[in-house]
Amino acid sequence: MAMFAIKWSFLCLACILLLRLAGAVTAPLSNCYTFDKSGHIYDFTEIAEQTFAYDGKKEADLPDLEIRFCNDVQRRSDEGYINFGHFAPFNYFVPGNGNADFVQEYYFGDLQHCEFYTNKLGRTAQVNIICGNCSNGATCKDEIGCICSVSYNSPSCRVIVELAISCGQPGPRIFQGFTVGFHPRAWEVVYNGITQWGYEEPRYGFSFGTEETKVSLYFTAIGALSKHVRKPTYTIIPENGLEVKLSGSASTGDPPTTLSPTSLDVIWRCEKAQDTPYAVNITVPIEGYPPVHFFLGKLCEYKQAIRSNNTKGWATFGLLCCILIVLSTAFCCAGFIYKTRVEHQHGLYALPGMTILAACIEVASGATNDGYSPANNINQSTWERSSVSDHVSQRVPDNKYGTVG
Ligand SMILES: *[C@@H]1O[C@H](CO)[C@@H](O)[C@H](O)[C@H]1NC(C)=O
Repeated sequence: MAMFAIKWSFLCLACILLLRLAGAVTAPLSNCYTFDKSGHIYDFTEIAEQTFAYDGKKEADLPDLEIRFCNDVQRRSDEGYINFGHFAPFNYFVPGNGNADFVQEYYFGDLQHCEFYTNKLGRTAQVNIICGNCSNGATCKDEIGCICSVSYNSPSCRVIVELAISCGQPGPRIFQGFTVGFHPRAWEVVYNGITQWGYEEPRYGFSFGTEETKVSLYFTAIGALSKHVRKPTYTIIPENGLEVKLSGSASTGDPPTTLSPTSLDVIWRCEKAQDTPYAVNITVPIEGYPPVHFFLGKLCEYKQAIRSNNTKGWATFGLLCCILIVLSTAFCCAGFIYKTRVEHQHGLYALPGMTILAACIEVASGATNDGYSPANNINQSTWERSSVSDHVSQRVPDNKYGTVG
């Protein structure tokens, strides 16, 4: 038994590992990442918050400086710490020109004495990142990297720093600007071409419930690149037990843009109940880029019947109603004619069912009037017989008028 459990857990682990390997790009765990000019991702999460210190040179009147990577830049001198800006990730961690491989901008440092220079941005810093050695060829003593040079612009309101670090291997090429979310303006699933945590591999907590039979996703892309988006495909793990259909404008490969998102409706039905969620592996091929993958989990606590076509059901119901109305009208007329011609009854009494109605009213009134009418009840409840007899059918309406009218 124990052997069996161990084997199973080992299998599960192997499965998870495989899934991890198969999932293309995992989202960086911080905002400390960027793309090179060709769109390959570089994730610097590992050295985020890392401190790079620069020892000032008294003779050149350069104070100490400290970069806390992807956080802030501080100048340190006898006057105390002066902040030269905080890391502003969006659009301010970009590929560089010339020597620099990447450029980071830090904004909103201390404002005092810099009010007029920097448009109220306070002190700012520009960090030119070089992958490898400093531009003057000097190697860093520290393996992680070092500050190569520091220079101040616009009298101590802006500092420009050259930082040499090891950038590691580039990640895959990313189709930037592409988003997938559960609303036209949302991007929970894919943000900026990167599959977000929770959707990059099957996860129990992110699964949809059994009763959720349809999920709509919305795609957006940068207008100029929208034509690269192709028709999505999917696979299901395990293969059997969940029926999936894709529909909506995105399912045919319509180009999405930022202003007009396309929609992908995932319609699913549980054919087989299962303890663990099914994983639907959706792949959006992007021309010229690696495809975008994401997983949607689906719980199947019970088997679901094939949905009957609703409109068809109502049409049948309508037709049946129609036939019923026509038939009852015909019977009513026939009964009326029969009673007037054959039984020679007139007016209301000739209407079919009138005797029944009258009998019913009598039973009701009898019961309320004296609370006791067993003989009458028996007589009138056997209306089938009594209705044929002229005697009862004549007498009953009289009674009725006596009590009601
Ligand atoms: C998801 O689908 C893609 C494309 O069909 C495939 O390459 C990938 O291996 C699949 N992932 C898993 C875990 O099955």
